[in-house]
Amino acid sequence: MTQQKLRVAAIADIHYGKHSRGILHDTFAACSQRADVLLLCGDLTDYGLAEEAEELIVDLRSAVHVPILAVLGNHDFESGQPELVRKVLEQAGVTVLDGECVEIEGVGFAGVCGFGGGFGRRMLNAWGEPLVKKFVQEAIDHAVRLEQALIKLQTDRRVALLHYAPIRETCEGESPEIYPFLGSTRLEEPINRFRVSAVFHGHAHNGALNGATATGIPVYNVSMHAVQKHAPNEPPFRIVEV
Ligand SMILES: [Fe+2]
Ligand SMILES: [Fe+2]
Repeated sequence: MTQQKLRVAAIADIHYGKHSRGILHDTFAACSQRADVLLLCGDLTDYGLAEEAEELIVDLRSAVHVPILAVLGNHDFESGQPELVRKVLEQAGVTVLDGECVEIEGVGFAGVCGFGGGFGRRMLNAWGEPLVKKFVQEAIDHAVRLEQALIKLQTDRRVALLHYAPIRETCEGESPEIYPFLGSTRLEEPINRFRVSAVFHGHAHNGALNGATATGIPVYNVSMHAVQKHAPNEPPFRIVEV
């Protein structure tokens, strides 16, 4: 028997500010109409303020009638209170994943923000100054948390939600100088090992939309800026069936 596909709507980098209420209401409503679950892949707020998250949940509450899963992005950390942003979202029923997982209609979702450090053989390694080692350790910690979330999933189909990119390919279009700040190959390893079905990330506003890991797992950049750049006449989210 073939399994019923789950329709996933995904968007990232919505950067809600203190006066953003209403801006993406219709976009969220369209996501809700066309999909079974909505993924928000980080940079939900502009400065990581609870007031900004409050603006966002007004739109989510009134527009979305399917489960919403989210990971935070670097902007959500800017004011040093990511736990408040998370709390506001959770009070509105959004499931925020930070090394955690959840199952929806037979599909497992594992999420973590991720971190930078660069890709492939040019990836930053833990060598030299203590701060460099700390930076690299942060990327390793995120990869470990992703792995721990994936281990817990018993489902055949598994989806990874990230803010940072796990591969270089979906960063193409950005300035090469910033690639090391857009993601890390360290995130790719657990994705391949656990044979994830699909990966969604944001953060690469000017990146490419589609890529694949070394083992051929599809990677979707769902940054709304990238989606709008490549498909200006389409809505700024993506729908993928898993
Ligand atoms: Fe962003
Ligand atoms: Fe970002």
